[in-house]
Amino acid sequence: MAGEFDGRVAIVTGGGSGIARATARLLGAGGALVALFDVDEGAGTRCQAELQAAGVDAAFFRCNVTSWADVMAQTEAVLGRFGQVDVLVNVVGGSDGVAGTGPAWTWEMSEENWDGMLALNLKSAFLCCRAVLPHMVQRRSGSIVNTSSGRGFTPAPERAHYSAAKAGVMALTRTMAAEVAPYRIRVNAVAPGVTATERARNTFTEQGWREFTSKLPLGKAGEPEDLAQAIVFLASPRAGHITGQLIHVNGGTFMP
Ligand SMILES: NC(=O)c1ccc[n+]([C@@H]2O[C@H](COP(=O)([O-])OP(=O)(O)OC[C@H]3O[C@@H](n4cnc5c(N)ncnc54)[C@H](O)[C@@H]3O)[C@@H](O)[C@H]2O)c1
Repeated sequence: MAGEFDGRVAIVTGGGSGIARATARLLGAGGALVALFDVDEGAGTRCQAELQAAGVDAAFFRCNVTSWADVMAQTEAVLGRFGQVDVLVNVVGGSDGVAGTGPAWTWEMSEENWDGMLALNLKSAFLCCRAVLPHMVQRRSGSIVNTSSGRGFTPAPERAHYSAAKAGVMALTRTMAAEVAPYRIRVNAVAPGVTATERARNTFTEQGWREFTSKLPLGKAGEPEDLAQAIVFLASPRAGHITGQLIHVNGGTFMP
């Protein structure tokens, strides 16, 4: 909604593409000042330029969110540039096609694959929360949205590491929500189903994607904007009495 984030500063991790990029756009349209954390400099600067062209005060910070040193340094840089952090949206993650973190049967999975997947999907969210929470606690205000997955709640063969990480994101979300509620900070999560980001689409052929998505309950995959709508709602004052909760945005694929 126009203006609901006026003067608020939001960090969006993975902001260079996919769901995070759509979220950054929507936060910016709502008046937020947007800080994009991404390892991909090209994607990050493109998104920054796109936001700025739309009149949003946006800045890209090159940040590997699996590294504490990077996350701390870049959070400090955001505070230096914008003065405060009101919203943190942790989107970085993924399963197939992300370097070093491919699918594997559990009995064949390497330690490196397991560690990489947990770092990308779970540790990254912890580190970013760890970096912004002292600031939010001090200000007694803030809202965090994490990204889980339907695969954290159903069996995901060849992706035990991803499933465990995404279930872990929800456990982290609930526990942090309980810890920081006395400081009027809310922590929630979304669980995407199949979403038509470039990365997800690239794991299929054109025809394979059409066939697969046409069989989903609503006859289509989610769009990044569908996820962004849920994330921005949870981050906004409209969700002011919602904390420790998860919204599945999956077109009916999985109904807990
Ligand atoms: N797309 C789907 O179908 C789907 C389904 C379920 C869950 N999800 C979850 O939604 C989230 C976003 O998915 P997406 O498809 O939009 O992803 P994406 O691959 O399109 O975007 C991820 C972004 O994160 C950045 N990134 C990767 N590693 C990073 C790191 N270490 N530090 C900083 N930035 C890094 C990438 O450069 C990229 O810009 C993920 O957590 C994913 O697990 C997606």
